[in-house]
Amino acid sequence: SSPKLIALSGSLRKASYTTALLRTLAANAPAGVEIEVAEVADIPVYNQDLDVEPYPEGVARLRAQVQAADGVLVGSPEYNYAMPGSTKNLLDWLSRPYGKAALAGKPALIITTSPASTGGVRAQAQIRGTLAAIGAHPLGGAEVVVPFIDKKTTDGVFTDEGTLSFIEAQVKRLVDEIEVRKK
Ligand code: FNR
Repeated sequence: SSPKLIALSGSLRKASYTTALLRTLAANAPAGVEIEVAEVADIPVYNQDLDVEPYPEGVARLRAQVQAADGVLVGSPEYNYAMPGSTKNLLDWLSRPYGKAALAGKPALIITTSPASTGGVRAQAQIRGTLAAIGAHPLGGAEVVVPFIDKKTTDGVFTDEGTLSFIEAQVKRLVDEIEVRKK
């Protein structure tokens, strides 16, 4: 069956460049690959007291979506040289229940963005470490770091063809990794 990818954006703002990029990738998914951008606006701040049944509705939905996916795209900006709390929050929810993390065993492609030349590269390294802690499988090799994203986005659509084809090649590598791990 065709691989299903769930895309998580660590930016909650409506006009997010990061979310726009994920939506553009979803709209242009390679043939035979399904990419869905997850709704994350209703995910509360992680609190272990809330992490009991019945789980908050958004959390239960997100965990089920990630569980059902073959792989994950983790898109994030960078705040103060680090992954934003909103990105870490998603990863924390998806790291539990202990031993049954929705993200455990999932191949993941990290995509960081910035209007600056640095492309969120510091957040990229942190996300990689956190995914490793959770037992996800962040893709090695070329990293997707997108600088000057404000110049590459028009009306909520990521328009830089060169960058898009580079990222699509990395999405194909993720799909290859999924296939290899299924064997
Ligand atoms: C930023 N921004 C930023 N950018 C960066 O490359 N490195 C950084 O350390 C920071 N720090 C930072 C802190 C805070 C609190 C904010 C609000 C912003 C700029 C950031 O990249 C920019 O706002 C992006 O547009 C955010 O991504 P989305 O929301 O467009 O996806």
